[in-house]
Amino acid sequence: MTLKTHMLHSMRDHLLALHEILDALGRDDSDEAAQIAESRLGMSSLALHGANKAAPYMPPAMRRPG
Ligand code: HEM
Repeated sequence: MTLKTHMLHSMRDHLLALHEILDALGRDDSDEAAQIAESRLGMSSLALHGANKAAPYMPPAMRRPG
């Protein structure tokens, strides 16, 4: 899979994750919402998204911490 395809795949999963978070919140399941947010959008998702591969192509301002 090319890096571009991987990036778009991750982005579509971001959208799906937001949908699943809203669905969990609609069922009053904040534990599940939090688990999805952390594993698919949060810091724990960096490896899943291959962030270290994509980061060198991001604009300099995005690569600066804080
Ligand atoms: C909740 C967070 C995010 C959502 C819902 C989201 C959603 C999306 C969607 C729907 C696309 C278009 C995908 C497609 O064309 O199939 C996209 C593209 C993209 N996103 Fe995100 N995104 C999120 C966060 C981020 C973050 C944090 C970054 C960078 C670190 C990022 C970088 C990009 C890039 C580089 C593209 C490709 C733009 C292009 O086609 O040139 N996104 N995103």
